[in-house]
Amino acid sequence: MKGLILSGGHGTRLRPLTHTGPKQLIPIANKPVLYYAIEDLKEAGVTEIGLILGTNMPEKVQEAVGDGSRFGVNITYIMQGEPKGLAHAVAVAQEFVGDESFIMYLGDNILKSGIMEFVEGFEDSDYQARILLQPVENPRQFGVAELDNNGNVINLVEKPEHPKSDLALVGIYLFKSSIFEAITQIKPSWRGELEITDAIQQLLNSNLKVDSHIVRGWWKDTGKPEDVLDANHLILDMLESQINGEVEDGAKISGRVFIGKGSRIKKNTVIRGPVSIGENCEIDAYIGPYTSIGDNSVIKGGEIESSIVVGDAVIKCNERIIDSLIGNHSHIISMENSLPKGYRFIIGENSLVNI
Ligand code: TTP
Repeated sequence: MKGLILSGGHGTRLRPLTHTGPKQLIPIANKPVLYYAIEDLKEAGVTEIGLILGTNMPEKVQEAVGDGSRFGVNITYIMQGEPKGLAHAVAVAQEFVGDESFIMYLGDNILKSGIMEFVEGFEDSDYQARILLQPVENPRQFGVAELDNNGNVINLVEKPEHPKSDLALVGIYLFKSSIFEAITQIKPSWRGELEITDAIQQLLNSNLKVDSHIVRGWWKDTGKPEDVLDANHLILDMLESQINGEVEDGAKISGRVFIGKGSRIKKNTVIRGPVSIGENCEIDAYIGPYTSIGDNSVIKGGEIESSIVVGDAVIKCNERIIDSLIGNHSHIISMENSLPKGYRFIIGENSLVNI
């Protein structure tokens, strides 16, 4: 079985962070979201992985992932270019996939428990696709499946006005090579994209069988800033403590905290886990729960909580920063006499904020 990870797309909902790089490289607990997909595929025994690239600085993905050997997998890069839909991304990978079964994994999705249990038995079955589903409160915002009593899919509708179930499509799919023929038979949707739901519906229309699995652990699509922060919460909930840097006497650390090599935690610091701090950071502040601070950041004064600092940031202020997503190389500096207030930021790379 092969793997296909979709790392193209525009990522418009994550601007301004996606003005300077693809969203699949945004770190969740100090690890690019894309790496979780690669690790899940590897854990499921899939080592031949095609990585679909788009137009938004694809070279950054190539630089980060390389040939895959670091993950114990073999990466083949496949250029999609303009994002013409998930089914289009699959179609451009036909030569790479050949006649094999494959797992398609959206490069901005994260699953708590990996994909091992979903892969079992698919290759040798007569099912042409297997979809992953999760009950959601707002099915109108998702692709929704209707199932028969055996869990076989009867039909799929993208963002239905009157949903027939609350089962939303998770961004991971298993296919046989019959999907390529189905894709040739569909037309672009109203938004001009070749939809994977239409291609799967095409399999059903041709009387081919599609089954389903319900995902019990959490699943996150990190398409929007609040989803990125939620995913950071969920991953940090599973963090294991490890202190590789230097903690000065007087610093107070509680809960589960990861501190990377070369980082220095100054004596007046308070860190309440779960918190992940990367390498070569200097921290002299209050760092509250569910915060990830990327490599080479300096945080001095003030409080930061429930936030992601991508890295190489300088935050010197006496303010309280919460629920924020702070791009690489950002500077947040407060004026000398400003009164402490609470702030929420979604700021892109190289930003400068004077408070
Ligand atoms: P989306 O989040 O649906 O699309 P997008 O990345 O263009 O984001 P936005 O709506 O904010 O502009 O895509 C889901 C995943 O699939 C994501 O990892 C990007 C990837 N993708 C492709 O690789 N090719 C495509 O043609 C599309 C539409 C998405």
